[in-house]
Amino acid sequence: MALTFTVLDGRHHDRASFVCGVAALDDYLRQRAGQHQRDGIATTHVLIDDAQPARILGYCALSAAQLHLHELREEDRKRLPAYPVPAMRVGRLAVSRSETGKGYGQLLLGHAVNLALSVRKTMGVRVLVVDAKDAQVAVFYEGFGFRYTANAALTLYLPISGVGP
Ligand SMILES: CC(C)(COP(=O)(O)OP(=O)(O)OC[C@H]1O[C@@H](n2cnc3c(N)ncnc32)[C@H](O)[C@@H]1OP(=O)(O)O)[C@@H](O)C(=O)NCCC(=O)NCCS
Repeated sequence: MALTFTVLDGRHHDRASFVCGVAALDDYLRQRAGQHQRDGIATTHVLIDDAQPARILGYCALSAAQLHLHELREEDRKRLPAYPVPAMRVGRLAVSRSETGKGYGQLLLGHAVNLALSVRKTMGVRVLVVDAKDAQVAVFYEGFGFRYTANAALTLYLPISGVGP
């Protein structure tokens, strides 16, 4: 089994069969992800098994974003300039209901971090931002080091560590 990430392509990926159990996230993939991608609103990355390349195991939708400096914890504000903090937003993230518990959610988050590090070679990205759909999912993100923003209960951020020369 060789897992790979690729950008959503409606001609090759079977969006209709994807079911994660949260209707809004299933509907997004089916009805809006393609349009958002064409319009530059969000780019959807899908996790697939090379042996079944049409089947979507999980997805995340990424966009440029920003946080206000005061939304970060005090210790994360150190040395930052006094203007909005450049961010990458994981707007949506879901794993096929039949595939949960296999580490795919973790893989999707890792992929987003890797992409943020890659983008950072071109433009600044200081944090990854997520909007958890409820308090239980917020715990999922917390498990990977995400921290709650100061003023939005279900918005969390992950500082991206520096790399390179
Ligand atoms: C939440 C979701 C993405 C997790 O995906 P997954 O592939 O099952 O997660 P993983 O197997 O990578 O689990 C990684 C860790 O998170 C934990 N975890 C998984 N789902 C969790 C949840 N709902 N709440 C809290 N922790 C959770 C796992 O126990 C695991 O921890 P461990 O390594 O200590 O055992 C998936 O269940 C899903 O798509 N749910 C429906 C859609 C949804 O809620 N998306 C989030 C929208 S903000």
